[in-house]
Amino acid sequence: MEDSQKKLNRRIDEYYFGGSGGERTLRENRKGLDSLRLIPRAFQGSLSCDTTTNLGGVVVPLPIAVAPMAYLSLLAERGEETMARTAAKAGVSFVLSVRSAIPLEKVAETFIANRRAIATSQAMAGLFFQIYLMKDSKLSFSFIDRAKSAGFDGFVLTVDTPYIFPRRRDRANGFSIPEKMVRGNLPPSFIPNAESALAGDLSMGRSAAAFDDSLVQNPTIDVGVIADVARACAPMPLILKGVMAPQDIELGGSISSGVVVSNHGGRQLDGAITAVDAMKIFGRCDRQFPKSLWMDGAVTFGSDVVRAIALGGDGAMVGKAFAKALRKGGESEVKKAISLIKEELQVAMALVGAQSVAEVTREIIFEG
Ligand SMILES: Cc1cc2nc3c(=O)[nH]c(=O)nc-3n(C[C@H](O)[C@H](O)[C@H](O)COP(=O)(O)O)c2cc1C
Repeated sequence: MEDSQKKLNRRIDEYYFGGSGGERTLRENRKGLDSLRLIPRAFQGSLSCDTTTNLGGVVVPLPIAVAPMAYLSLLAERGEETMARTAAKAGVSFVLSVRSAIPLEKVAETFIANRRAIATSQAMAGLFFQIYLMKDSKLSFSFIDRAKSAGFDGFVLTVDTPYIFPRRRDRANGFSIPEKMVRGNLPPSFIPNAESALAGDLSMGRSAAAFDDSLVQNPTIDVGVIADVARACAPMPLILKGVMAPQDIELGGSISSGVVVSNHGGRQLDGAITAVDAMKIFGRCDRQFPKSLWMDGAVTFGSDVVRAIALGGDGAMVGKAFAKALRKGGESEVKKAISLIKEELQVAMALVGAQSVAEVTREIIFEG
């Protein structure tokens, strides 16, 4: 019989790396990137290209950011801090999910202490804090105040999860988030039963769905609410994450500092279009979109980042590829995964003949 540790590990893997419904969107995300073939140039590449770009208007050294992911500490001891430290050292920007096992102040301290300018750019990696608009909106606004004081560079408001899509794997195996994970960012007063929370064992955890329901999400996010959030974040930028339809991208850009085109890594609407599809439909290549435009979904290789930029993006966020590395071997594996994607990016830019992010255009994509 499977021992309890193995069982827990399997449940964590299924929670972390699975998708919603029949996992169609999860699979399509990779296929979408694979379908974009790139046209190499023979005579104009150089490895010393400038990778500087912007995330919500913040100048950052690389078009790569760690996507916000809940409870990185499920994957490795002090996972949020490990990811933050490794990203900061490498010049990769980091978006901390509000659902963190470690308080945001501690993660910010680690990130800021470790970031430095990298060779291909004078800029330093950006540190963003991701929030949801919770039913208890005071809680959301209190996170903004805390993150401002802690030194974050900006905010990401995720708008694609007004309702949590039931995930069959989690239901089947009865996965629950251990309470000790939930506690990281919550004021003690919010925890209903401090004693069971302190014990923190799995049996006392609430199911992912029950937790999501208690803490999250006010399903009625409208333009007025977003304006309130943006005002609270000011003067720091607010980016909206999880827009796909062209109208939403356009609207999002008009009321915030930028958008992340994302289907939440195939964890929300099963059968949703991919970010690649959405970027194509939106069709604003060559950086005509006046605000920062990023995408995510199955981004794993440096050439995927080049694809995202060629579709009109300023960069790409990486979720599960970095999470897998963290799961496999903590800091050393994340370090390897990050340096590999950076090297691949540099070489891919050189091979398509781009000296800078601005020179990665739709022309490098074969439309046949
Ligand atoms: C386990 C897990 C937890 C996530 N938690 C959050 C979250 O708390 N907030 C958020 O905005 N996105 C969350 N996401 C979505 C990611 O930010 C990102 O959109 C998605 O994972 C990108 O796709 P990729 O994992 O294929 O790279 C989560 C994704 C995963 C896999």
